[in-house]
Amino acid sequence: MSKKPHFQSPPGMHDILPEDEKYFQKLFHLAEGLANFYGFERIDTPLMEFAELFEKGTGQTTDIVEKQMFTLRTRGGDALALRPEFTPGLVRAFLQHGMSNLPQPVKLYSIGPAFRYESPQAGRFRQFHQIDFEVLGETSPAIDAQIIQIFYNLLDELKFKNPVIEINSIGANCCRPYFKKILAGYLRSHYNSLCLDCKRRVRENPLRVLDCKEEKCQPIKAASPQIIDHLCEDCHNHFKEVLEFLDELGLPYRLNPYLVRGLDYYTKTVFEIFIESTSAQNQAPIALVGGGRYDNLGKVIGNKDIPACGAAAGVERIVQEMILRQPELHTETRKDVFLAQVGNLAKKKSLRLFEDFRRARIPIGESLSKDSLKVQLSRADRLQVRYTLILGQKEALEKTVIVKDMKRGTQETIKMDKVVHEIKKRLLKK
Ligand code: HAM
Repeated sequence: MSKKPHFQSPPGMHDILPEDEKYFQKLFHLAEGLANFYGFERIDTPLMEFAELFEKGTGQTTDIVEKQMFTLRTRGGDALALRPEFTPGLVRAFLQHGMSNLPQPVKLYSIGPAFRYESPQAGRFRQFHQIDFEVLGETSPAIDAQIIQIFYNLLDELKFKNPVIEINSIGANCCRPYFKKILAGYLRSHYNSLCLDCKRRVRENPLRVLDCKEEKCQPIKAASPQIIDHLCEDCHNHFKEVLEFLDELGLPYRLNPYLVRGLDYYTKTVFEIFIESTSAQNQAPIALVGGGRYDNLGKVIGNKDIPACGAAAGVERIVQEMILRQPELHTETRKDVFLAQVGNLAKKKSLRLFEDFRRARIPIGESLSKDSLKVQLSRADRLQVRYTLILGQKEALEKTVIVKDMKRGTQETIKMDKVVHEIKKRLLKK
């Protein structure tokens, strides 16, 4: 049995190997296409922020801040955290760069790694990537629907069948505090039957009990008052309109009165998008996307009213499903030409020629490290190029190249200084 190398990547943090990169790239490319279409501009914020940004923004009593942040203190004494999510950082950047002076709304997207100290398991990593879309400076329920539409489209373009949108409204400062009191009263009357975590939640954030997955809390949840019945008129109408937009767009959704999401900043709309896993081991639906409206985050972080709505998709979870559903994804960059060489002089000349093709922007493949012509030609075959150029000792001395037309099976000799131009001409005619 071979021994494992001494150093492994840290738990929950994975290498993305070349065979998987193509899935990541395909997904990022799709997200960028959607961003362009819907008018979102890319922003990249630092991987680290002041820890306080998340303590205030994401919320002191959330799992993310309580248990999952990677924090450190710099030599200068600053408390920093690796970003566990993008939203507070994007709002911070919006405020810092005066984006509220731009025409509103400002539509931003970002793609990159996030970090959460989780106990690593399938689909739950300590370093993972998110595709994050945010619309800042707009209250309209049309935006909530558009955000949902964008992420639904992303999954649809990947041909994921029947994604399920779960949606709820958790109200805002106008009605939620009152509902929290009602809920806390109800939960206190069932206090002894709650799990340990929920007993604490009753005091700190009773809404989070609705999120609890513990078996013993389920009957209590099922009979609990529902926030949807306690929304104020403004929140109620906003939610009604979001649902009307979704109906109009033909997006299938399921109302989930227990969906509260584990982050403190949400107001009004919250939603998640799930799919049934195709993995034999994993029967539970997988949450691929989570998001919602967060009209108060600007106030909390920068004392400015910035109505906003956004969502993030978990890249690794999506990629895992892409691999299960489409293991044969073939994205080797298409090459039109292959350059084969035999002998030392030819190898030297082919380096120059290869660069000439690059400057002419003609995709060209090579196996410079291989000496056998047979091995090189079989690689050219695999790449399905249109032309293979062969450079041997004789050609190198005569400053010519053999050009083999792989489709027609013909071959001819062309002057080395004319070959780039000639190939370009023929490819254009193709
Ligand atoms: P979230 O629900 O915490 O929301 O994360 C969004 C998605 O990231 C999840 O649905 C999941 O697919 C993925 N994800 C989360 N944690 C992990 C993990 N440990 N390993 C792998 N994937 C994970 C947010 O992060 C909010 N900032 C979304 C948002 C944007 N709300 C408004 N704007």
